[in-house]
Amino acid sequence: MPLTIAEHPLAESMLTALRDEATSPPLFRLLAKRLSLVLCLEATRKLSTTEVRVQTPLAETGGARLASLVAVPILRAGLGMLEAVTELFPEVTVGYIGLERDHATFEPSLYYSKLPPVEGRFVLLLDPMLATGGSASAACGALEEAGAGHVTLLSVVAAPEGVRYLADRHPEVDVVTAAVDDGLNELAYIVPGLGDFGDRLFGT
Ligand code: PRP
Ligand code: URA
Repeated sequence: MPLTIAEHPLAESMLTALRDEATSPPLFRLLAKRLSLVLCLEATRKLSTTEVRVQTPLAETGGARLASLVAVPILRAGLGMLEAVTELFPEVTVGYIGLERDHATFEPSLYYSKLPPVEGRFVLLLDPMLATGGSASAACGALEEAGAGHVTLLSVVAAPEGVRYLADRHPEVDVVTAAVDDGLNELAYIVPGLGDFGDRLFGT
């Protein structure tokens, strides 16, 4: 499974602020979006284009038109990454997958799914935390079933356990993240991580 760590001083400094427990929800939301812009640019390097011709004021020249793109945030925390994608790709179509981890077993359960047509299309799956990998894997399974062309998971922080779990089950999925941390604690939280992303994003 191809794994890319977005290494950029700006990404690193934004991630540091996201990790900081003193960062308030308004700033957390802003940074989550800005970091997602960096991740999204990295993740869409392989987005295909078709060749078009345009007339500049001086001459005709060749250019590129973007292929269609689908973004699928995993609720809730993935919503914090969606605006970055819609700003960069205003034509994107958006689907939603609602998954919640059980507090005791850490197993995800699906409570919502609404996908646009994804057959053969490039899908950006948005979930900031790749912890055990259960949620990302379940979402990739749903996208696979729906016939998605190519799936890239955008994550803010990944745990090695989650990377391995996803690679075993969905080796074809690309992962772009800002960091791979040390591992999981006994509650399956990423360490050092940044805590509960959804809670920090929504102030809950
Ligand atoms: C969090 C996070 C991921 C999931 C990652 O969601 O946003 O979706 O946990 O954990 P995993 O890799 O072990 O599956 P959570 O279930 O807490 O829901 P929320 O986004 O609504 O807070
Ligand atoms: N979900 C989160 O929000 N944070 C973690 O560290 C693990 C799962």
